Amino acid sequence: MRIRVDYIMLNILQKEIIRLKEEKNAIILAHNYQTSLIQEIADFVGDSLELCIKASQIDDSDLVVFCGVDFMAETAAILNPEKKIVIPDREAECPMAHMLPADAVRKARLKYPDAALVLYVNTLAEAKAEADILCTSANAVAVVKSLKEDKILFGPDMNLAWYVSQKLDKMIIPIPEEGHCYVHKMFHEGDIVFLRENYPDAVLLIHPECDPEVQVEADEVLSTGDMIRYVAESEAQTFIIGTEVDLVTRLKRENPGKTIIPLLSEAICKTMKLHTLEKVKNSLLNEVSEVKVDVEIADKARNAVERMLEVSKPK
Ligand code: 13P
Ligand code: SF4
Repeated sequence: MRIRVDYIMLNILQKEIIRLKEEKNAIILAHNYQTSLIQEIADFVGDSLELCIKASQIDDSDLVVFCGVDFMAETAAILNPEKKIVIPDREAECPMAHMLPADAVRKARLKYPDAALVLYVNTLAEAKAEADILCTSANAVAVVKSLKEDKILFGPDMNLAWYVSQKLDKMIIPIPEEGHCYVHKMFHEGDIVFLRENYPDAVLLIHPECDPEVQVEADEVLSTGDMIRYVAESEAQTFIIGTEVDLVTRLKRENPGKTIIPLLSEAICKTMKLHTLEKVKNSLLNEVSEVKVDVEIADKARNAVERMLEVSKPK
């Protein structure tokens, strides 16, 4: 969704970016972990699935500025081969996506020829090209459920793999065995015990990239987009949030009457924060850094992305 913000409240640089965006007929997409300053100038802010859906619907913009990490911008490029996709800081990489090289995926295929291959969108394009279907944290259970196979190779997040294995009666084989997100690994049961004691009525929302010991303590395990909807619709007043801190910032801004507490205020995705307003302005002005995916790889990977989008269509 678009963040509702009064134009008059924006700073000079933000206003300059909006002017440039119009001049260039550009659209800015941003992940929920971007800072408020960037979320405020984005045309669309969302979780990985919402960003994929939005990227599949871009038709009248000439330039797409993607404020997220590498795999997200690559997915937008895969879905829009004829458009120019730029990322404000090309060093914005997701370490988890780099834990599963395409070679390792091919080896796993050979070892388990009768298994379906489901990859989390947090993978690079070359690995995506090997997948039968992709998933995000919002639709992983629905995606795996939609497959006829009962044996599933699933990577690279072992915790999301564990989450899916708890929901479905299928054999989930994680590849690699220990793929993880360093940010969501920071949460521990001890933090939960402390906050539960201090806020006994709070609802605890946890992202499925967290360790199983943390997930089992949750009232709900949700993607970032589902956390936004949950807090907006819930009658509860207090929420403890187990994901990256800028999701907490967004929740606070959109729910001024509710108390939103981060499970850990040090849970910061450093590479997401590489994007700044200055770099967004530069990427609009100079149309850099362009995100390019090899045509053959993009064509193969597009099938897996589109298959996922098909499962996620509202019925
Ligand atoms: P969401 O799809 O829930 O936003 O998660 C993306 C991600 O990278 C979480 O670390
Ligand atoms: Fe990757 Fe973790 Fe950052 Fe998400 S929070 S982009 S999984 S490093």
